Amino acid sequence: MALTGAGISTESGVPTFRGAEGLWRTYRPEDLATPEAFRRDPALVWEWYDWRRAKIAASRPNPGHEALARLENAKPCFTLVTQNVDGLHRLAGSRNLRELHGCIWNLRCVDCGEEREDRTVPLQPIPPRCACGGILRPGVVWFGEPVPMEVLQASMEEARACDLLLVVGTSAVVYPAAGVAHAAVQDGRSVIEINPDETPLTPHATVSLRGRAGAILPRICTSH
Ligand code: OAD
Repeated sequence: MALTGAGISTESGVPTFRGAEGLWRTYRPEDLATPEAFRRDPALVWEWYDWRRAKIAASRPNPGHEALARLENAKPCFTLVTQNVDGLHRLAGSRNLRELHGCIWNLRCVDCGEEREDRTVPLQPIPPRCACGGILRPGVVWFGEPVPMEVLQASMEEARACDLLLVVGTSAVVYPAAGVAHAAVQDGRSVIEINPDETPLTPHATVSLRGRAGAILPRICTSH
């Protein structure tokens, strides 16, 4: 099993949230990634998401994403849980995938709840509208919103039962996602952390590999 965060996509050119060049250095999450911010100014939120969609559309999966897709091919019981909304794991070929924070390519109507994929970049108009007339929002989980219960529960159960959890490219500070790694630790599972920096999970990991996901994952995810 693997749990990934923004760090696995940084080698594809998608910025992380924290750290020296993280998005939260320049932008305030409370202005852009909460339901209140969207109610206040949907156009502003959409401009930011449209900019991120354009960045992601121009990026490709990197050797880290590809290594995890190969691992799933070699071991069909492998599950990948990601906090990322960029869709790069799916593009790399991962199918047994749980997207805890949703997907930036999905649009959901705030009125009728209908959700659909739309990869148009740039989006026109902003904010986009549903056929019912309601405003469409990004199909992601914002701060203050719950992670879909069934996705979270299944991920926690798998973490408690897995043989090995790879925790890749996450600062492990955002809950409940970070709780997936801690569930594995608590139940005595082997946990390998792959990250250039230390995180709150580091002291609890069985092994900590300091380095880039794109360099380390291809070396440890071999099919034999
Ligand atoms: P963060 O931006 O918090 O953390 C990224 C992690 O990736 C850091 O620990 C970096 O050290 C590490 N990193 C950087 N480059 C790396 C590389 N090449 N290989 C491996 N690791 C690398 O991202 P997340 O932990 O994913 O939520 O953030 C969790 C959530 O906070 C996101 O899903 C998002 C954000 O706010 C919402 O928007 C709800």
